[in-house]
Amino acid sequence: MRGEGWKARRDALAWARSIIPLFEARLFLEKVLGLSRVALMAHDELPLSESEREAFETLVVRRAAGEPVAYLLGQREFYGRTYRVTPDVLIPRPETELLVELALERADAGSRVLDLGTGSGAVAVSLALEKPDAEVTAVDLSPAALAVARSNAQALGARVGFLQGSWYGPVPLPARFDLIVSNPPYVAPGDPHLAEGDLRFEPSSALVGQDDGLGDIRFIVHGAANRLAPGGWLLFEHGYDQGRACRDLLTAAGFTEVQTWPDLAGMDRVSGGACGQPPLTRKS
Ligand SMILES: C[S@@+](CC[C@H](N)C(=O)[O-])C[C@H]1O[C@@H](n2cnc3c(N)ncnc32)[C@H](O)[C@@H]1O
Repeated sequence: MRGEGWKARRDALAWARSIIPLFEARLFLEKVLGLSRVALMAHDELPLSESEREAFETLVVRRAAGEPVAYLLGQREFYGRTYRVTPDVLIPRPETELLVELALERADAGSRVLDLGTGSGAVAVSLALEKPDAEVTAVDLSPAALAVARSNAQALGARVGFLQGSWYGPVPLPARFDLIVSNPPYVAPGDPHLAEGDLRFEPSSALVGQDDGLGDIRFIVHGAANRLAPGGWLLFEHGYDQGRACRDLLTAAGFTEVQTWPDLAGMDRVSGGACGQPPLTRKS
């Protein structure tokens, strides 16, 4: 599959586009050469060095084998900013921007915000940057994911406190948040989508939910009243077919104003509600 007999940038692209989409090939060549799209196109007759050629070929071949573009580039855009991503974190999805928008509608200056399962930190960092006076705390079970999230917060200048542990576990009581947001793992174990596309390369701990896929969401919903200030909101992402179950969980846990919001594709994507009863005293 390796490219033979080409030297110029335009020939490299012509070879690559026979294997992968042209726009991906351009992204890889821009990365290898450290050039913008415009600069690349302006001088596409120039030759590649041997090391540039090897690096480009490797990216193209790995992409042809299915590796996600974001992991190969080491970055992904989310809510207008560029985040470093590695195979230790879920690749931030455009549909998760809905979670950020709904959270921003409910956050005030000084709001205390908790992001559960922060991964690359995309949600927590977006909220911290959009609401600089908010106090944002982010939790993840994976130390490797937290290292990526920390580096993103630092690179983007976001003030976020990071805690390692399982869901509410590392959050000291009696912390009370005005907003809890989460994009937890929610794919059911054995779901055939896990064997397709980018999901094959993403950490299963970021994708697969406990039990029927809703186990982590159940835990997050049940623990939220004990961590939310009265009137505070819980908002979380879920699968397109989990809206009804999520609303039932929220209602059973005493939340009010329970709703599900669709993503841009019209699929149920985020559910949430307001903490409608006095906080519980039990530990969770
Ligand atoms: C679907 S990813 C979301 C990542 C990021 N918030 C985003 O939207 O791109 C879920 C994240 O939850 C984390 N996670 C899984 N189980 C957890 C647990 N028990 N406690 C805390 N975080 C957990 C995973 O490590 C992963 O980073």
